[in-house]
Amino acid sequence: MSERSSQQAPDSDPVQGTTGSGVLFERARAVMPSGYTRNMLVTKPYPHYAVHADGCLITDADGRTRIDWVNNFASLIHGHNKREVVDTIAAQASRLLSATMPTEWEILLAELLVERIASVEQVRFMNSGTEANLMAIKAARAYSGRSKVAKLEGGYHGQYDLLEASYLPTPAQWGERENPSVIAHNLGTPQSLLDELVLFPLNDIAQMQATLERHASEVGAVIIDPVGLSLGTGVYARPEFIEALRETTAKLKIVLIFDEVWSLRGGYRGTQGELGIQPDLTTMGKMIGGGLPIGAVGGSSEVMSVFSVENGEPAVKHSGTFTGNPMSMAAGFVAMSLMTPDAFNALAAQGERLEEGLSRALYDTRTEGHVVNRGSMTNLLFTPHTPVDYRELYTQQTPERASLARRMQKLAAAEGLHVLRNMFVGSTAISVAHVDQTIDAVTRALVRAKRGEDGEGA
Ligand SMILES: Cc1ncc(COP(=O)(O)O)c(C=O)c1O
Repeated sequence: MSERSSQQAPDSDPVQGTTGSGVLFERARAVMPSGYTRNMLVTKPYPHYAVHADGCLITDADGRTRIDWVNNFASLIHGHNKREVVDTIAAQASRLLSATMPTEWEILLAELLVERIASVEQVRFMNSGTEANLMAIKAARAYSGRSKVAKLEGGYHGQYDLLEASYLPTPAQWGERENPSVIAHNLGTPQSLLDELVLFPLNDIAQMQATLERHASEVGAVIIDPVGLSLGTGVYARPEFIEALRETTAKLKIVLIFDEVWSLRGGYRGTQGELGIQPDLTTMGKMIGGGLPIGAVGGSSEVMSVFSVENGEPAVKHSGTFTGNPMSMAAGFVAMSLMTPDAFNALAAQGERLEEGLSRALYDTRTEGHVVNRGSMTNLLFTPHTPVDYRELYTQQTPERASLARRMQKLAAAEGLHVLRNMFVGSTAISVAHVDQTIDAVTRALVRAKRGEDGEGA
């Protein structure tokens, strides 16, 4: 036994989960800043450590089992341990984990995406949504010959520092609506980088057009999540806004990137298929990896030719040690193959049932708020109406509403639900009975929240 492992608590067992979350967190705090390696998981006083899962049920190190409505932030379209996916992963793990050679799996997954997504003729794979967006920006710059990038104020596209800017600006920072200030998301972000970003508000066609026209000679790419602001906010883009964005970018010869890292779950042909609008480039991730790390950029052969090596040095150099690794490619191919049009329809029906039930729960408990749903994504919002853009989302978020939203997450956990940001991400593993159980649990949590209870571990 190494010196290091002999220091571990004797009853620790990551497979059986014999040590409680509180004890695990104490160990984590000693070796990771604040005890975390993923800020999304920050929970007071400590996170629930996962031990195992089955279908839509996840069990923590304290022996509590909950219905998983997070699905690893919208990546597990089949919930946990889908038999066909697990069997494929197990077989591939004994055959070949990774190699500096391509495998047929990457062709199979690329063929599947090309067949489904009308705007995608060719694909390149990466290992995360962040990396996909980084490569898409490089591709758009090389193709357009212009370096600036435009995005929504409040838009989220992963951890690339250019795209993180102005993800969560405050009123004191954000400046004039007609000319929003670009605000660094991290201390130390160079001003030269921030100067490369241009912002426009969601759902304001005139403002978007004016902004892009003003910067047309410098902006090479616009990136947008075609569903709306960002995952978890429930703030949607009006279809006519996305349509106008497509027309404006085409007119100004700006590469339009749809970030479909999570929104590809919006339909068999992605959210773009539902909208009937084709971007120049599409970035993907999450669900297309079947539960393993993945990212992808796809688009027309013409735009994707910036990656081509046939005529010597490519315009954009792309490689990566784990790029196209057979584990993610195989898991993704099998998981996506199981997502037939019928499977997407069933997920949409699940979302509608949940939306109806959660709306009823709000009504029955006389709680201010409303529920929004798109396919497999349902959000419980404690605001009087759906905000149209980031600034309205921010200003509607009074301290009382923010406190209710925070307490609800904890009370939902106490009532047997694993939920983040009051967002319910569907999966094929969730049955009608689980949906109904969830509606009852949310109703109980709302009653407790109104009584002023503070939830688990508070
Ligand atoms: C729209 C969008 N783009 C990009 C990302 C980043 O993906 P990843 O976490 O795989 O880097 C996310 C993650 O939530 C996302 O929602």
